Amino acid sequence: MSSSTATPLDNPPVLRLLNVESAYGPIKAIRGVSLQVRKGEIATVLGSNGAGKTTILKTISGILDPRKGSVEFKGLDITAKDPAFIVQQGLLHVPEGREVFPLLSVRDNLLMGAYTRRDRDGVARDMEMVYAYFPILKERSHQDAGLLSGGQQQMLAISRALMANPDLILLDEPSLGLSPKLTKEIFEIVVRINRERGTTILLVEQNANMALNASDYGYVLENGRIVMEDTCARLREKEDIKEFYLGLKETGVRGERRWKKKKTWR
Ligand SMILES: Nc1ncnc2c1ncn2[C@@H]1O[C@H](COP(=O)(O)OP(=O)(O)OP(=O)(O)O)[C@@H](O)[C@H]1O
Ligand SMILES: [Mg+2]
Repeated sequence: MSSSTATPLDNPPVLRLLNVESAYGPIKAIRGVSLQVRKGEIATVLGSNGAGKTTILKTISGILDPRKGSVEFKGLDITAKDPAFIVQQGLLHVPEGREVFPLLSVRDNLLMGAYTRRDRDGVARDMEMVYAYFPILKERSHQDAGLLSGGQQQMLAISRALMANPDLILLDEPSLGLSPKLTKEIFEIVVRINRERGTTILLVEQNANMALNASDYGYVLENGRIVMEDTCARLREKEDIKEFYLGLKETGVRGERRWKKKKTWR
C-alpha cells in the first residue's frame, strides 16, 4: 500500500493547449505553445518582458484568435470561441493591469463578475466569501473602484473573477507594480483560494520566486516558445532557473537580473 498522498499533479488536465501560434500582424508572439493545466493545481508560465505570457492568456480566453493550434477546456474545444462563451464555461481571465471599472463601486464591480449567474443566494454567499478573503474590499464596498490602490484593485480583479464561481482562473502578473509585501499577501490568498475552493489557476509571472513557491507545475517561456517544464519543486533546483530567473547565482559574467527590468503600471 502506498502511503503517498494524491497531489493535483495526479489529476487529469482541465485545460490543454496544443501547438498554439498567435500573432499581432506580422509579429509572431507565441510559436507552437503546448501546455496543460491539471484540475485543482496552480500552474505557472514564467518568462521575461515580451516572452508571450499575456498572449497565451489572451488566446485561451478568446480575446485573440490563434493562427494555429487548439485550446481545449474541460474536454470542449474553445479555440477562437467568443470570450463571453468561454466565461460561461467557467474560465475567467484576470488581465494584466487589472482593468476594474473605475467609476463603479467595489460592490458593483463584484456584481459584474456574477453577471452570468442566476443563483442569487449563491452570489450573496460568494460576495461574503470574497469579503472574507479581502476584508478591505468590504470596508470599501461603496467606494468607486478607481479610488482603490493598485494592490486593492488587484484584489478586486481577482475577487470579480471569483464571483463567477469559476473552475479556472487565468491570472496575469498579479505582482505587477506592487510592493514585495503586498505581492506576498496576494499570493498567499491565491494559494488559499486554490486549496480551500479547489479553483484551478494558471498564473503568468515575471516574479519567478513568488510564482515557483506558489505553484505546483511550471513552464518557462522564452521568445514565444516553452523551453522547459517541470514540477516547481524541481524547477527551483535547476541551475539555469536559479541563474536567470531567481537571480541566485553568486558569481558569473551575467550581472544583470532580468527581473529588474520589470515595468510598472500607471
Ligand atoms: N497589441 C500588440 N501589437 C503588436 N505586438 C504586440 C501586441 N501585444 C504584444 N505584442 C508583442 O508580442 C510579444 C509578446 O507580448 P506579450 O504581451 O504576450 O508578452 P509578456 O510575456 O506578457 O510580456 P510582459 O511581461 O511585458 O507583460 C512581444 O514581442 C510584444 O511586443
Ligand atoms: Mg504580459
